[in-house]
Amino acid sequence: MDLKKMWRVVGVPVVLFTVIVLYAGNNDNEHKERAQTAAQSFMGQLQNVLMEELRDGGPVKAIAVCADTAQVLTDRAGEELDVSLKRVSDRVRNSNNEPDEYEASVLKKFTRKQEEGETPPFIHTEVRTLNGEKEFWYMQSIHMQAQCLGCHGEEEQIADTVKKLLSEKYPDDRATGYTPGDFRGAIRVSFTVD
Ligand code: HEC
Repeated sequence: MDLKKMWRVVGVPVVLFTVIVLYAGNNDNEHKERAQTAAQSFMGQLQNVLMEELRDGGPVKAIAVCADTAQVLTDRAGEELDVSLKRVSDRVRNSNNEPDEYEASVLKKFTRKQEEGETPPFIHTEVRTLNGEKEFWYMQSIHMQAQCLGCHGEEEQIADTVKKLLSEKYPDDRATGYTPGDFRGAIRVSFTVD
């Protein structure tokens, strides 16, 4: 085989393949960055509102506000950032935050990582084809911190007034009994890609 022919048979496909792989890889990185920015921005906004309310009026006021704003903020942040956005958990407070089948399978995977002692946050990304459209899906685990316990901690850490309000607003609340570091759920960001 002369060199020219060898280049055509081996070289060209190798170069093309490399270019395609690099291109696809870069695209995935870009998607991941976009998802991560959206997740951070939303979680930041939510945390700010929560902390502000806690400071101004304590947990009872924070819940009254958060209960409504969490859902509104989720929709608004999704719109602003042009992504679909949701907080999910395997033990929800608000049933709107119940995971779908796919999200539940990722939560299971995260639970396993937590049990195996991996360092959080856990991240899962995947390009999925849904109704003929390609979508980039990003999920990142959420873990308990000390400042969450007044509303998600053990019995004795939640004030009676808070308990009362929670049981009124969320009669099926399963999101208590956590300790710092516990795996609490995940944020999911997704959007259409070419
Ligand atoms: C002032 C009380 C309060 C504090 C403090 C608080 N939360 Fe929540 N949390 C709520 C309420 C109320 C909801 C239900 C919101 C809704 O209706 O979507 C909720 C919902 C959630 C959800 C969505 C899943 C579900 O169970 O419905 C996650 C995840 C979550 N909280 C994590 C945290 C984390 C992490 C912290 C600490 C950084 C925290 N929360 C601090 C009151 C609180």
